[in-house]
Amino acid sequence: MTLKGRDFLTLLDFTPEEIDYLLELSGELKYKKKNGILHDELRGKNVALIFEKTSTRTRSSFEVAAHDLGMGTTYLDPSGSQIGKKESIADTARVLAGIFDGIEYRGFGQEIVEELAEYSSVPVWNGLTNEYHPTQILADLLTIKEHFGYLKGIKFVYMGDARYNMGNSLMIGCAKMGLEFTACSPAKYFPEKALIEKCEEIAKETGAKLHFIEDPAVACKGADVICTDVWVSMGEPVEVWEERVKELSPYQVNKEKMDIAGENCIFMHCLPSYHDHKTKVGKEMGEKFNMEAFEVTNDVFESEASVVFKEAENRMHTIKAVMLATLK
Ligand code: CP
Ligand code: NVA
Repeated sequence: MTLKGRDFLTLLDFTPEEIDYLLELSGELKYKKKNGILHDELRGKNVALIFEKTSTRTRSSFEVAAHDLGMGTTYLDPSGSQIGKKESIADTARVLAGIFDGIEYRGFGQEIVEELAEYSSVPVWNGLTNEYHPTQILADLLTIKEHFGYLKGIKFVYMGDARYNMGNSLMIGCAKMGLEFTACSPAKYFPEKALIEKCEEIAKETGAKLHFIEDPAVACKGADVICTDVWVSMGEPVEVWEERVKELSPYQVNKEKMDIAGENCIFMHCLPSYHDHKTKVGKEMGEKFNMEAFEVTNDVFESEASVVFKEAENRMHTIKAVMLATLK
């Protein structure tokens, strides 16, 4: 199989076989990395990493993965380039495509990364938009596969704001790979109807099941995975905190929900997470709303069931697979 020259903008664009291929390749690259086997197959190439929002995992993963593959990297931060301010996305795409072999973009609307891809003659990889976070989903699927040994039929429950990048992309990933996906939140936080319909079509082909449930006790019963994400995402106004805390607090992942799921259930989170007061925002908002933690309690985050740091490591192996598959 070859994905050479393809963009990586959303998993909607990829078949289950292609996603499976990327997961297999990630596993091979992880093995090589762990065993000190050189894999600098893209020596001489260079990639541009555009970040209009901040990042720890995604930036580090693209940089280390590119270096392991033998490539050079140029990081363009939110303030250090002309993008969007003095130069359009279409012009930027054509400039960068002449200099680099691939372009990563993290930013706001999905339409921006799509426009970049439309005008770029080299592959464009989505490092997170408001709507989608496809490289994260590959890491999450790899982590589930490593833990349980398979993906099909896994009961995956996503708690919280299911209509943003993580909820949307997890629903797509689960639909593509035949998992049983549940979004658990108040109905207004379910993914958009049009996306649900697309995923239901995919599910018919793959055997996946999709559920949208407001009651956490019903949703968590028998779950293999309980996953969540922050209630307020990057780029959202600070004013939404109050509403989110009020509406999503019943969906906080805590011991009660993990107990409902059962002892074999694992906890996942793309990170970063507000599970204590050890961050500036976590402390400020925690004191304001009188909460020790937001989307997940610290005991669950630190528990044996939590695989969040394995997930974080898998970002690097899966991003490496995406770059190798689309550039080689
Ligand atoms: N999960 C994730 O994308 O993390 P960063 O924002 O640190 O890249
Ligand atoms: N929903 C989060 C994901 C961070 C990786 C955000 O967009 O901020």
